Amino acid sequence: MSQKGPMEIAFESISPAEFFYRNRQLAGFGNSSQAIYSTVRELVENSLDSCEDAQRLPSVKVEMSCEDSDIIRICVSDNGTGVAEEYVSRAFAKVLYGSKYHNRQRRGTFGLGVTMAVLYGQITTDSPVLIHTQCSGLQGKEYTLFIDVETNQPIVESSRPLKREFDGTSVTVQLRGDLKRAQERIVEYIRLSTISTPHAQILLEINGTESLKSGRWWDTVPPPVLGSNPHPRAADFEMLRRLAQTNGEKRLQDFLVSSFQKVGTKTSSRFLKFVSFDPAQKVSSLTRDDFGRLSTALRKFDGFENPDSKSLSPIGKEAFLAGIRSTFSISSQYYSSRGPSEWQGNPFIVEGVIAIGDDFPRSDIPAIYRFANRVPLLYDSSEDVLTKTVKKVNWKRYNVTSSAPAALLLHICSTRVPYKAAGKQSIDTIPEIEIAVLSLLKDLGRKLGKTVRKSEKALRENKKMREYARSFRHLAKFGAALAGVDEIPNTNRLVKQLFEVYPDE
Ligand SMILES: Nc1ncnc2c1ncn2[C@@H]1O[C@H](COP(=O)(O)OP(=O)(O)O)[C@@H](O)[C@H]1O
Ligand SMILES: [Mg+2]
Repeated sequence: MSQKGPMEIAFESISPAEFFYRNRQLAGFGNSSQAIYSTVRELVENSLDSCEDAQRLPSVKVEMSCEDSDIIRICVSDNGTGVAEEYVSRAFAKVLYGSKYHNRQRRGTFGLGVTMAVLYGQITTDSPVLIHTQCSGLQGKEYTLFIDVETNQPIVESSRPLKREFDGTSVTVQLRGDLKRAQERIVEYIRLSTISTPHAQILLEINGTESLKSGRWWDTVPPPVLGSNPHPRAADFEMLRRLAQTNGEKRLQDFLVSSFQKVGTKTSSRFLKFVSFDPAQKVSSLTRDDFGRLSTALRKFDGFENPDSKSLSPIGKEAFLAGIRSTFSISSQYYSSRGPSEWQGNPFIVEGVIAIGDDFPRSDIPAIYRFANRVPLLYDSSEDVLTKTVKKVNWKRYNVTSSAPAALLLHICSTRVPYKAAGKQSIDTIPEIEIAVLSLLKDLGRKLGKTVRKSEKALRENKKMREYARSFRHLAKFGAALAGVDEIPNTNRLVKQLFEVYPDE
């Protein structure tokens, strides 16, 4: 009888590129139509981020064409900053490599978007990504790149100088998929993108024909979004330890003031008293235990002000309303916002518009359009904190009924949006965010309800006034006949006195 020994256990480590090659659904590249949509979305996101860096009004062109039966060529061009030669190969062909790991609002977050598109193109059509980029004052250059999936290193297949008409970047990938199936979502994505980035113009060309031109509803570039020190409530053990490494010489009090936003000398004194630390203690003398006590206390202490908003870029009332007005047929709309507040020390603002118009479906609950860091979210709506919170509100109370089709356009912006997965489709339920969204929705409901009530009251008053006017006219006619006079007295003045307006004749 043969005896089986214990199974040998093989350990290995895999590269980030290999990880996302095996788990592409986590990044929104699970199937081909999702991959086409995600590719357009990631490339457009990068273009808009880059134009923001350049402080230019974005002009983005999305070209899609079917090269072969099911091979689609997608090219997205922009007028952004361009990418410097030394970074190009890694930016486009190394997973988790990027320039956006800073404490400020960006569309991109993980250094994953364009590289996922490149990876997907490479594994479905064996073609490289084509980059044509030009930075201010420098010569343009064109590259073809592959990703070495096993090592997560870029492979430069070719590069050559090539002038571009203007500064910026064009990225071309080829992937396998069904263009017709993905088309509708892409059109919707572009239309909604120009609501959340109303100063951008986005052109969509399919097989050489212009199929959509959307945007530039607003002609000013929003002010630059600045990086800022972390809020003290964001400081966990690891962050404190790292900050301390480069500030060993400082006194604890000065360290807190210089490392965090919203901490001045007074606040730091109060905090250090609260946690019983000596303000003059040298940072280099802090032990692991001390870091633990400090980080716990930083999250508990309620004497810190809310974070500042210079690292955020909300759409803003006028620009948001202009974008909606230009995209949908609207009869009325109201704006409101909440914040800046913070979740785990990450500043965020929520803003929203409730709109009434014939383009929206008739329902007892408004249609929902979600945006995060100016990016429309089209998938996994039911999982999202915005959708869940909208469903908690009793909209009847605010006179939202199926007779007046309504929509809610909700935008959350934060230095860190708590997405549920790397595909960035839905936002997690974080208590602080939920509270802010609920308060925003109630305010929007009240604003809408007030006008609906006002116009209902006006209608009722108008009806009553007409009835009075008619009765008074009858009485006057009757009175005149009784008195035997020909001229019927004008009763309008009487009605006017009652209602303080002139009735319609
Ligand atoms: N169109 C573009 N213009 C300028 N820089 C770009 C462009 N596309 C990508 N990049 C650079 O490449 C990096 C990696 O992009 P990506 O993989 O999408 O990650 P992320 O956008 O999350 O940082 C970006 O951080 C950015 O620096
Ligand atoms: Mg990106």
